[in-house]
Amino acid sequence: MSVHALPTANAGSRKPMTLHSLRAMQARSEKIAMLTAYDATYARLADEAGVDAVLVGDSLGMVVQGHTSTLPTTLDEMAYHTRCVARGLQGGAAWLIADLPFASYQQGTAQAMAASAALMQAGAQMVKLEGGGWTPETVRFLVERGVPVCAHLGLTPQSVHALGGYRIQGRDAASATTLRAHARELAEAGAAMMVLELMPSDVASAVQSDNPQMMTIGIGAGPGTAGQVLVLHDMLGLTRGKLPRFVRNFARDEQTGAAVATDVALAAYVAAVKAGQFPDPVAHAYGSAA
Ligand code: KIV
Repeated sequence: MSVHALPTANAGSRKPMTLHSLRAMQARSEKIAMLTAYDATYARLADEAGVDAVLVGDSLGMVVQGHTSTLPTTLDEMAYHTRCVARGLQGGAAWLIADLPFASYQQGTAQAMAASAALMQAGAQMVKLEGGGWTPETVRFLVERGVPVCAHLGLTPQSVHALGGYRIQGRDAASATTLRAHARELAEAGAAMMVLELMPSDVASAVQSDNPQMMTIGIGAGPGTAGQVLVLHDMLGLTRGKLPRFVRNFARDEQTGAAVATDVALAAYVAAVKAGQFPDPVAHAYGSAA
């Protein structure tokens, strides 16, 4: 075997995920383990570790391209990385979601459809878009045309300048109420999934119980969501600088601090999510507002 061959140990041992099978996981209270990936090798490793859904996040602008925000990442770049990840998932099982990057869907439904088509034709099975209030019309338009949509509320990094930085959202009663109203509108518009980023646990739990038909995936949103997502580079301890406190480094043994291999770290993440051992409810106690 060439040293450059992709690892194939568990490839093909799970059935390919569908929206139906993800919903079935939620129905039987099995947590959905999601991770970001940006290339074929890590996508394959994540899939072999048992990750249920891989997100080609526009976080690639920061962790791969070295930008200070996700804003410079373009649709062509997202499509390129989606193609890479889709190749890595060939013969695997994980569901593939790709982010619509900044300025690829804000101008209206036709622009959003064209951008979604580019990502779906690159191999995505679902697109993710950020924000509430103005987005349900776009979500409905895409869903009616056969594009599964994951919404994204709370800290929405494409709005970092409008939000005044990477800050916890939904902390006071008024903003929690608005967040819940936006989530309801998006669920009614047909969003099958929703990432909830950086908010008090009880707000995220309330969004899930308000909208049982939608799968919520938390990142810094506590244990009450249907699943969890982390940025690959963060959970492998590769990101430098101050990390949000909800991030856990799975590439270090918790007891000894010794480095563990990447495939072991990825499997530990999946196991911790499935067992409800990640996230830690204490590290996610951002105050109550629901
Ligand atoms: O771009 C990304 O990686 C994301 C995650 C933070 C959910 O949207």
